[in-house]
Amino acid sequence: MFPPALLQTYNRTDIAFVRGEGSYLFAEDGRRYLDFGAGIAVNAFGYNNPKLVGALTEQAGKLWHTSNLYRVPGQENLAAKLVAHTFADTVFFTNSGAEACELAFKMARRYHFVNGNPERFHIISFEGAFHGRTMAGIAATGNEKYLEGFGPKMAGFDLATVTGNVAADLVALKAMISEKTAALLIEPIQGEGGVRPIAAEFLRALRKLCDEKGLILIFDEIQTGMGRTGKLFAHEWAGIEPDIMCIAKGIGGGFPLGATLATDEAAKGMTVGTHGTTYGGNPLAMAVGNAAIDLATAPGFLDHVNKVANYLNQQLGALVAGHPSLFESVRGQGMMLGLKMKTPSGDFITAAREAGLIVLPAGDNVVRLLPPLTLSEAEAREGVELMGKAAAALETKVAALSPAREALAGEPPVAGPRASVVGRGK
Ligand SMILES: Cc1ncc(COP(=O)(O)O)c(C=O)c1O
Repeated sequence: MFPPALLQTYNRTDIAFVRGEGSYLFAEDGRRYLDFGAGIAVNAFGYNNPKLVGALTEQAGKLWHTSNLYRVPGQENLAAKLVAHTFADTVFFTNSGAEACELAFKMARRYHFVNGNPERFHIISFEGAFHGRTMAGIAATGNEKYLEGFGPKMAGFDLATVTGNVAADLVALKAMISEKTAALLIEPIQGEGGVRPIAAEFLRALRKLCDEKGLILIFDEIQTGMGRTGKLFAHEWAGIEPDIMCIAKGIGGGFPLGATLATDEAAKGMTVGTHGTTYGGNPLAMAVGNAAIDLATAPGFLDHVNKVANYLNQQLGALVAGHPSLFESVRGQGMMLGLKMKTPSGDFITAAREAGLIVLPAGDNVVRLLPPLTLSEAEAREGVELMGKAAAALETKVAALSPAREALAGEPPVAGPRASVVGRGK
């Protein structure tokens, strides 16, 4: 079905979108979809946003690329804004989230190296994490599925558990920390892992542990950042700050852009010649990034996110309660929400798409909702109505299949996560 000229690493849905407007996507066949995926948390300011389009087209007519051998005024402006709004003193721009993580790992190791402790290069991340698909990224992610067949896992990445039992998780983590440990790395809400919020108490304990043991605390806010959870960055809910933070996705609003933010102290090993990039922070990316941060920090923007997110959360609570055979619970924060499913999440994603709504898969059999942050309350309502339609259609399919299955198996069917009724999900 798909052109063999493309490397087949994706199990793609057979839809090609050709246009977007606000919270809606339009496919090749003219069909309109309400989008609760936002290109996996990227299109935070909606499609065809006039501020972003204006910034990009204006820059496109002036200058695209010069390299980092020269000053790039857009970088200086955006870095100053990010520093003004965060814990950070210094910023490096990348093209993607994985590259932002890569620099965070290098920076943490280099910090200990210049402190005279080159043996401290181990980074502890947490089960259920996702930190990108580079060799270091998959090592930090720790998921066997992503590591298999790519040779030995890069040395110096250790995986801790995060079960939600803060006291027990801390005991286990402390036992893993050694004289080789350089840093702790965590997403304040695990996105790909299944919209798994990390307890604020646990994040605060990590900060304390890093202070006590001289470790670098790295937050990966690639998915949670840029207003997604209702604060500019999710860690603000916990009232603590990291030493290094990776961002991407929303900061580019759809243009490839990431960044690694750090305190001067954490970044002190990154001197001239220790890192570089050809494209990172190029004038096009900077034009969009500057417009995006202005939107995210404009008065009232986060109030809007919180207001619509609270409404959406309430409505989803009612949806979950109304379909107890499909949904287990709703979780997450702000506009980063997950529906923990009792039936295969892929079936619900397909049913939602057939009803005209785009939602996303995630680990732990969760349907992930990451709408544009500009979503209106009316669009939130429409989205939940479409989910209600999808749920009803799925229940009808399950009911229609039940007699046939009963006849086949000689016993009543159990609708469990592995009992797909509409074929393979993504
Ligand atoms: C938390 C987190 N870290 C890292 C990445 C990797 O970002 P990219 O795909 O831009 O390399 C992602 C992407 O989904 C992510 O969600």
